[in-house]
Amino acid sequence: MPGETVPLPGDHDPIAGPRLTFRPIEEGDLPDLMRWLADPEVIEFYGDAPATIEAARDDYLEADVNPVWRFVIEEDGRGVGEIQYGHDYPGDDYAWKAGIDIFIGEPDARDRGVGTEAIRTMLQHLFEVQSLHLVTIDPEVANARGIRAYEKAGFRLDGVLRHHAFEHGEYVDTHFMSILEDEWPAARARWETERAAVSDQPR
Ligand SMILES: CC(C)(COP(=O)(O)OP(=O)(O)OC[C@H]1O[C@@H](n2cnc3c(N)ncnc32)[C@H](O)[C@@H]1OP(=O)(O)O)[C@@H](O)C(=O)NCCC(=O)NCCS
Repeated sequence: MPGETVPLPGDHDPIAGPRLTFRPIEEGDLPDLMRWLADPEVIEFYGDAPATIEAARDDYLEADVNPVWRFVIEEDGRGVGEIQYGHDYPGDDYAWKAGIDIFIGEPDARDRGVGTEAIRTMLQHLFEVQSLHLVTIDPEVANARGIRAYEKAGFRLDGVLRHHAFEHGEYVDTHFMSILEDEWPAARARWETERAAVSDQPR
């Protein structure tokens, strides 16, 4: 039954994938989060950075106020960004869909597959551990890099949401993208094929 394994906010085990690990954000992560959120490439599509550490704490640690599960993405033990998921009905039996979001905050971790890998790792958790039916994401239409990464991971475009975000003083359109549970096996197979091709390459 979908939802039986859905943890309550503030109570989550780490999520381990083949290349990356997600661990719940802690107080000690706030300085890194502030730095990442102040990066111009993150601000461009993620909005203005929190002005104070208290604001960052409210946004990223107060899980009971804001029922979203937020994680630091770790690559080889180093935090490189943030990934999160939210359910409409946290902790309830009928939590059957989730929305996700991500940013890679360390500049040297962007544009080398980490974002795509993180999305795939989160999809694996949501479909295979939490047994969800649907996962969604809504990048701004101008975010070609994000859209490309989400398509590679298996998301499809449902449609364009007009003026669905307000960023940097103007309304912007977003792509509403989704992947259904019965589409996940093919997406996962593509991930495995790509991983095998990388591990076959001479070092
Ligand atoms: C969007 C983001 C998560 C993607 O992660 P990433 O690790 O940088 O991306 P990846 O390397 O996994 O994949 C990017 C893909 O987009 C392609 N790409 C890069 N820039 C592009 C552009 N301007 N137009 C089209 N495609 C582009 C890359 O070539 C790659 O595709 P390929 O593997 O087929 O060559 C990351 O760049 C990021 O956090 N950006 C800033 C904040 C943000 O946009 N967050 C998402 C909000 S929805």
